[in-house]
Amino acid sequence: MIVERAPAKLNLALHVRARRDDGYHELETLFAFVRDGDTVTLADAAVDAFAITGPFATKLSGEGDNLVTRARDAFRAAFGGGPCAITLDKHLPVASGIGGGSADAAATLRALARRHGVATDDPALMAVADRLGSDVPACLAGVTLIGRGRGERLTPVAGLTMPVLLVNPGVAVSTAQVFAGWDRIDRGPLPDGDAMTIVRTGRNDLEPPARALAPAIDAVLELLGAQSGVRVARMSGSGATCFALFDHAADRTAAAKVVAARNGWWSLETALA
Ligand code: C5P
Repeated sequence: MIVERAPAKLNLALHVRARRDDGYHELETLFAFVRDGDTVTLADAAVDAFAITGPFATKLSGEGDNLVTRARDAFRAAFGGGPCAITLDKHLPVASGIGGGSADAAATLRALARRHGVATDDPALMAVADRLGSDVPACLAGVTLIGRGRGERLTPVAGLTMPVLLVNPGVAVSTAQVFAGWDRIDRGPLPDGDAMTIVRTGRNDLEPPARALAPAIDAVLELLGAQSGVRVARMSGSGATCFALFDHAADRTAAAKVVAARNGWWSLETALA
């Protein structure tokens, strides 16, 4: 049995530069990962099986097009391998800007790669990841990276280790709809410098269109920004999950207590890995 963690992905900054003819957007983003997330378990089996457990299992059940089974099928088409039983333990909210589905697909690829002796940096595996979604290559690498293009052209950078609080107001937003709401104004590249400089002086250009679709994001950012010890409060990806970075874990825990009082909001106390 192989167990692979599928940590939540954060876009610590996300600058949208242009709309492309293929409908995707040219972007520059700083990807980072936290300590917690979903878990994918893989075992050999007589026939293929897929099960979902965990607090967000019901949000996915019945979705025939799950990224985990697509990752399994794409891996097999590229590298071969027999039937397997996969269990996804789902702790991250779906459609929420922290890469849940992409992280799960990447963890599935890592598990199958381990099972079949494929290196996780094998270019053919990266190509499989790329076809599954724009964030899947970054999730496969699982380290702090600058992403360009659709997010698939990756350059590693030195990471940050900091306490972080993730908060989602309980609304799922469509990535495609948020990108479609971007005003097509190029506000400039990611700043030069180390990860902290990029975080401090960067932005998420998808915040305005996401806030228009899900006004609850305003309340999340306002509440996070008002907590003591917050270095940066920003939305991740296409939302609606927002993150707050702290220097001290005690400040994060105090902020988590305030957030826990808000009905219907999901939060996770974790740390940048
Ligand atoms: O690549 P992925 O399937 O995760 O993207 C989901 C949707 O998000 C795309 O269909 C597209 O509408 C939008 N997207 C985009 N530009 C990107 C990444 C995603 O427009 N760089």
